[in-house]
Amino acid sequence: MSEKIVTYAQLLEHNKKEDIWALIHGKVYDVTKFLDEHPGGDEVILSEAGKDATEAFEDVGHSDEARELLPGMLVGEFEKDSELKTSKVFNSNSSAVDNAVQQGSNVMYFVPLGLLGAYFAWRFYGA
Ligand code: HEM
Repeated sequence: MSEKIVTYAQLLEHNKKEDIWALIHGKVYDVTKFLDEHPGGDEVILSEAGKDATEAFEDVGHSDEARELLPGMLVGEFEKDSELKTSKVFNSNSSAVDNAVQQGSNVMYFVPLGLLGAYFAWRFYGA
């Protein structure tokens, strides 16, 4: 049996009340029809749109009955690489910026240290 693979881009597309998917435990569910029936309300699910809802889902301590509803709404397996994106996307998603900042702060340390070293080298060995 081949299960459909859902990408992060696809998950993001289904992010509104009329059409919403939820990512829980690496699987993607179409919860559009369930939204109005959800005992916890539609807002909590809507606020997890485009994110990994696993933690929110588990924090509530959903019953076995709640879990049994999931297979009926299954769209497919979430793409493995996409998992990384969901956790990163709300932080700085530019590693180029992170690297620049990192390199910048290295320079801040090494330039004064280098100057200090040069000064002492000159004091003790030069003059
Ligand atoms: C998408 C799949 C989900 C399903 C199938 C589902 C199903 C259910 C069901 C059946 C209940 C009734 C209590 C129980 O049986 O555990 C419930 C309650 C609840 N759910 Fe969900 N839920 C889902 C997602 C979420 C998410 C993502 C959140 C939080 C962000 C959430 C928050 C809540 C809360 C707060 C309650 C308690 C409501 C109350 O007792 O007043 N649920 N859910």
